[in-house]
Amino acid sequence: MKRIALFASGSGSNAEKIATYFAENADVTVSMLLTNNPKAGVIDRSRRGFNSGLHVPVLLFDRTTFYDTDRITEVLQQQRIDLIVLAGFMWLMPAGLVRAFPNRIVNIHPALLPKFGGKGMYGHFVHEAVVAAGETESGITIHFVNEHYDEGQIIFQASCPVLPTDTPDDVAHSVQALEHAHYPRIVADVLGRL
Ligand code: GAR
Repeated sequence: MKRIALFASGSGSNAEKIATYFAENADVTVSMLLTNNPKAGVIDRSRRGFNSGLHVPVLLFDRTTFYDTDRITEVLQQQRIDLIVLAGFMWLMPAGLVRAFPNRIVNIHPALLPKFGGKGMYGHFVHEAVVAAGETESGITIHFVNEHYDEGQIIFQASCPVLPTDTPDDVAHSVQALEHAHYPRIVADVLGRL
């Protein structure tokens, strides 16, 4: 049995896809959901059982706990978490947490890294930057996490066209379809290699 911890800060559509993907899998459990945002849509999704009758405990934490204590690392270790999956989590992972889970933290970024990554490049800002730069394609990058924003080893990328008439919302729509199609199965692949 492999145990996943999901981290999310926003709507949680990727978290829900992952939870649903593993709901019927006896070898994988989504053991907990961690969030820094008390208003995150992902909390409502978890209350609704991720539309799959799942009951995933939610841990809400603040900045001081996350960066100035080892509490979150300790909880993850106590819960015997095998893989941490960031699904729209917007804070940098603290160095101590990265060291405690080497090659056991994965993230999804809504662009083709190394382009459009780094501090401040998250969520809709990425799609705005892609359109402003006149890119002809965008996509997703799934990567291991280190102490720097969006710099860990790349595991998987997939691309989609960006048309000259596309708005940031159009790009977001195409990218999200790629995220939902690929993230759960790539997480399954990574778990299979642990
Ligand atoms: C996703 O597009 C994800 O790639 C992005 O936030 C969105 C969350 O959507 N993550 C980042 O920008 C991380 N730097 P969701 O809450 O609907 O899953």
